[in-house]
Amino acid sequence: MSAVVDAPVRLEPLTPATDARLLAAVLALDPGPDQERYCMPASRTYPPASADPQRVPFAVVLAPRGAGPGAATPVGFGVLDRRGHLEHLLDDPARGLLLRAFYVDRAHQGRGYGAAAARAARGLAHAVEPAAQLLVLCVHTSNAAGLRAYGRAGFVDTGGRWQPSAADPQVVMAAALQPPARRRPGR
Ligand SMILES: CC(C)(COP(=O)(O)OP(=O)(O)OC[C@H]1O[C@@H](n2cnc3c(N)ncnc32)[C@H](O)[C@@H]1OP(=O)(O)O)[C@@H](O)C(=O)NCCC(=O)NCCS
Repeated sequence: MSAVVDAPVRLEPLTPATDARLLAAVLALDPGPDQERYCMPASRTYPPASADPQRVPFAVVLAPRGAGPGAATPVGFGVLDRRGHLEHLLDDPARGLLLRAFYVDRAHQGRGYGAAAARAARGLAHAVEPAAQLLVLCVHTSNAAGLRAYGRAGFVDTGGRWQPSAADPQVVMAAALQPPARRRPGR
């Protein structure tokens, strides 16, 4: 599966073939000490995701203009899940994929990478599951940065709420998957 780019970031699916240095750098990314109530670090979420054929873990890497495919500074992480708790979020779970475990490293937050990566995740989801129609996610009502970033990326509040524990409820958001733009003949 190839990478999906939404400048300034590129999403790189993490597979057994992933460069060990890139993977180690991804596993060191940290959402921030005050943010773990919203998202656990990749060091905790990557191992189960990589062992589950239903999930596609990915790195968010910086994609500066003109940089070659080998240049990769990871700034974030996420997982696409074909199953997860989709049955509780969609009438027809087969229509959707779940975006989960998604975050930007604390040192890189607030620079537009989260919104760009969430938008690019719609393209990666299409590459993973072309028959699906929606990318779905859950975000805590108190997570102002998350709500804003996902809104920027084209996700809308479905009106659904997910509350697996007594903690603050989560807003269910969804966006259409984004097939790659078609090139016009001769371009
Ligand atoms: C949520 C998160 C992914 C957003 O990524 P980011 O790179 O920090 O966000 P961006 O720089 O793309 O900003 C997106 C929007 O959010 C706004 N924003 C950023 N931080 C904010 C904050 N603390 N409070 C309110 N709005 C904030 C930005 O101003 C921007 O809005 P604008 O485009 O209208 O100016 C990131 O902050 C993060 O990983 N947080 C910790 C873990 C987490 O919450 N993960 C998501 C779980 S659902």
